Amino acid sequence: MPDTAPQGLRRLAFGGDYNPEQWPESVWQEDVQLMREAGVTMVSVGIFSWALLEPEPGAHDFGWLDRVLDLLHEHGIRADLATPTVAPPAWFYRAHPEALPVSREGVRLAFGSRGAICHSSAAYREAAARITTALARRYAGHPALAMWHVHNEYGVPVSACYCDNCARHFRRWLADRYRTVDAVNEAWGTAFWGQRYSSLEQIDPPRLTPTVGNPAQQLDYRRFADATMRENFVSERDILHRLAPGVPVTTNFMTALSQCDSVDYWAWGRDVDLVSNDHYLITDGRRTHVNLAMAADLTRSVAGGAPWLLLEHSTSGVNWQPRNPAKRPGEMARNSLAHVARGSEGAMFFQWRQSRRGAEKFHSSMLPHAGTDSRIWREVVRLGADIDALAALRGTRTVPDAAMLWDWQSWWAQTLEWRPSADHDARERADSFYETLYDRHLTVDFAHPEADLSAYPLVVAPALYLTTQDAGANLRRYVENGGTLVVSYFSGIVDEHDAVHPGAYPGALRDVLGLTVEEWSPLGAAETVALTDASGARLTADVWTEFVVPHGAETVWSYADGPAEGRPAVTRHRLGRGTAWYVSSRLDPAALDTVLGAACEDADLPPRGELPHDVEVVRRAGDGGDFLFAVNHTAHDTKVPLETSGTELLTGEHTAGQLTVPAGGVRVVRLDR
Ligand code: GAL
Repeated sequence: MPDTAPQGLRRLAFGGDYNPEQWPESVWQEDVQLMREAGVTMVSVGIFSWALLEPEPGAHDFGWLDRVLDLLHEHGIRADLATPTVAPPAWFYRAHPEALPVSREGVRLAFGSRGAICHSSAAYREAAARITTALARRYAGHPALAMWHVHNEYGVPVSACYCDNCARHFRRWLADRYRTVDAVNEAWGTAFWGQRYSSLEQIDPPRLTPTVGNPAQQLDYRRFADATMRENFVSERDILHRLAPGVPVTTNFMTALSQCDSVDYWAWGRDVDLVSNDHYLITDGRRTHVNLAMAADLTRSVAGGAPWLLLEHSTSGVNWQPRNPAKRPGEMARNSLAHVARGSEGAMFFQWRQSRRGAEKFHSSMLPHAGTDSRIWREVVRLGADIDALAALRGTRTVPDAAMLWDWQSWWAQTLEWRPSADHDARERADSFYETLYDRHLTVDFAHPEADLSAYPLVVAPALYLTTQDAGANLRRYVENGGTLVVSYFSGIVDEHDAVHPGAYPGALRDVLGLTVEEWSPLGAAETVALTDASGARLTADVWTEFVVPHGAETVWSYADGPAEGRPAVTRHRLGRGTAWYVSSRLDPAALDTVLGAACEDADLPPRGELPHDVEVVRRAGDGGDFLFAVNHTAHDTKVPLETSGTELLTGEHTAGQLTVPAGGVRVVRLDR
């Protein structure tokens, strides 16, 4: 059995992508000395090194990597050693131009960047297996080796290829899944618009069509593309397992919904030994620390609640947005420790030393162009010491309060064309529900709709458009057994083939919600509606309204105006020992907070009004102890109540009753038990 934690690492992981091949060897000695000064415990090596490791087909040059790994080992730094299969060399593409991916529009992408891969290419698969085998043979026993890092961020920058080779592979995938062409016709509803196939041979990828293409075909193609990348991951992983037994294998995910939309991480989470994630702040006006918390919670959930590892984030600005602000003083440490609070066993960065050349030379790093006499370096050194002080929490797990249902496949289905309203955005709903729970100081796990939910007093389901009958039955069971469920509009509508469940909406959830929806009526771009309750209070919503017909559910809020005036807007259904809420419109943040607040009462989740806004309080617990993290995102010192006394690990101070958290700072208390 492979390990699930980096081998030989006795502290939390601290370090970054290390690309020594970009520098003369004379620089490497300084690198390792500075790594020691900063408290670096592990680096990721070799991610883009294929062209150097195999300069000619079949001819390897491992000398430089031997020297790098030896040097790291001499300095006590562990290596997360990559297979370089995200960047095949130029010679490979000259011999196999068909391995370059083709876009949906039919354009073949060129060499000269990275990640230009058709995952169906047999030549690519063979070449990837060969370099992986060679690396594993050479380094399986190297004393610096802590873990394997396969490829880089599957799914970006190319999420799917549409070439003829993929067409053949897709047909094989369909044959495996459906057996017969008639089964495909049935699943895809090809009777519509005369799309019927009489042989699997006639089926192509969903390439550009004159108008909207078959939605079920598009959905299956996303599944196929994801499964194909995963097949390639698994084949590399199996080579590594065979030749380096016991060494954990990971591949760096990008769970943030704004950063990768093409990978179904529920499936991938089961296939890696250790879940790792890359996370970058997106400056789009939203609260970056909330998005960070959400990505970290999602990563932990994909890991089944087990510890995971933040493999990349940035010390300061990135360089791929239109405008790339520097992080504010203290922000890097706050980001890093917020990931640790939510289950990461360390904090690593892209990258160690800032490049002088290439596309990412303006991306921040641990050792910036400005050198060690710089704010970034000083903060890096300080963070290294802080991370070192937290070693005791290794192996502990973040303690959740509630769960949010999330399904990448349902999200994919909602991004297909010709939906009731272009203003409905599943990701936005997920963000908004998450943010409301975050502001209520609830730690959120994500769960697949068919997963066991019995551990959670509260489960929310924002826009779960694609809901299988099994998921519907699961939610019904959850509520009957005492759970509190909150479902938002456009949920429970279609099955796994994007076919509407028979009967009135929401087919998969009618029973549990105790209602049907006769029709929906999305609103105009700037239109809002008011909701009112028995006391005459008012809430505001937009984007979506519906004609809800209760069958057992009680109306808590009704539409005060708009197309559904006088009809139920928010309902509550008592079923068995639990309660199921339904929200039929897009509530604004205050309205959503009101409704989720009422659901929290049903779920017996006490309000945490004593905790200051924008101060995250999260617990990790396990055999190693009980740890309370307080992350202060505000510009003021603040106080957090403590139920027991404990030792603050970053200052060493004993604390009881309450904890002072400085402006922009983080405190981690090991609670006395
Ligand atoms: C990541 C990638 C790194 C680097 C980084 C820059 O997505 O894995 O190699 O490009 O972005 O932000």
